Amino acid sequence: MAFHNSAFFLLLLIAFPLLSHAEISEEVAQKIKRINAKGEYYGLVVSGEAELKVVLAQGWFRPDQDLPTVDISARRFRVGDVQGCRTILAMTGSGSVNAAQATQLLLTHFRVKGVIHYGRAASARPNDLSIGDIAIPRQLAHTGVWYWEKFGGDEGSFTREIANLTFSKYNVGEKRVNNKLQSVYFQPETVYSVKAKPEVGTAKFWFRVDDKLFATAREIEDTLLDRCVGKSLICLEQQPKIKRVEKGGSANFYVNNEAYRDFLKTQLNIASLDTESAAIAMVCEGERKAFLAMRSITNYAGGSSAGNDASVIQQLWYFHAHAAIVALFKKLAVGDSYLESVTGSEIW
Ligand SMILES: *[C@@H]1O[C@H](CO)[C@@H](O)[C@H](O)[C@H]1NC(C)=O
Repeated sequence: MAFHNSAFFLLLLIAFPLLSHAEISEEVAQKIKRINAKGEYYGLVVSGEAELKVVLAQGWFRPDQDLPTVDISARRFRVGDVQGCRTILAMTGSGSVNAAQATQLLLTHFRVKGVIHYGRAASARPNDLSIGDIAIPRQLAHTGVWYWEKFGGDEGSFTREIANLTFSKYNVGEKRVNNKLQSVYFQPETVYSVKAKPEVGTAKFWFRVDDKLFATAREIEDTLLDRCVGKSLICLEQQPKIKRVEKGGSANFYVNNEAYRDFLKTQLNIASLDTESAAIAMVCEGERKAFLAMRSITNYAGGSSAGNDASVIQQLWYFHAHAAIVALFKKLAVGDSYLESVTGSEIW
């Protein structure tokens, strides 16, 4: 009997590492273990290849000597250091599915105490958020979950309170003529949180970033961003600034339409628009991880930009990315342990 028990136990020992990691090979699992054994990390999640290149090219992300990368599900997680903060760098690729997938893999496999997100965006409020500014929203919404009602109106049960877009209001010419596209109603997401029971979702439209990170962001608002390209006369019209804003939105479509942009501004008070931030915010909320997004404004979502700012920013945003991320991580390094309580605590 004793022999059988120990043989069974041995069998379990042999089988368990193989069974427990599904598609993750034993080699990758061991790497993850070693990376996590070093402590907690900040996740630096960038939206695209251009942003990733910027981070890698400028040398302020210092790769770990021992174990610099691990690949999971065609995602590369780069382990390193930014301003003395242990950091795991990941790129999402565009759109909410990519953003959510990369972020979820990061948070599932690594010990992450907070996620800092960087990318580019459009401004829906050109008067107070200009091309060149870096927007840091306090709240983010996924503005792509719609209930599209039928022509003539709809009795269906859906949320009508958040905002609706009635297409006939945008007719050119006769405003009262009805339109077969009728109206769409913005709907909340359903969030599944580690704080709730599995399979019990909560409806949520606005996702709030971490209060402490948002407060820290205030301290970097005076970081000087370059206005001109090197010593040239190619300059943005106004001095660009890091600016905290109240609201940002993401959806799986690029907005190059002034009327729709103004709708988002008037109905939802949205300042910055992109295609990933809200998805990352939602994954972080589900995992109860601190989150902050920074987005360089490079266009006005279909509104005209006075002068040549839209072309100038193409040569400047990578310097701004450097300035903003480094400034933030400097602050994070000072209070490096302050977020450790976030995991599993009531931060939201
Ligand atoms: C649609 O939105 C407008 C505001 O633009 C509001 O006045 C109206 O009540 C909304 N319609 C419904 C059916 O909720």
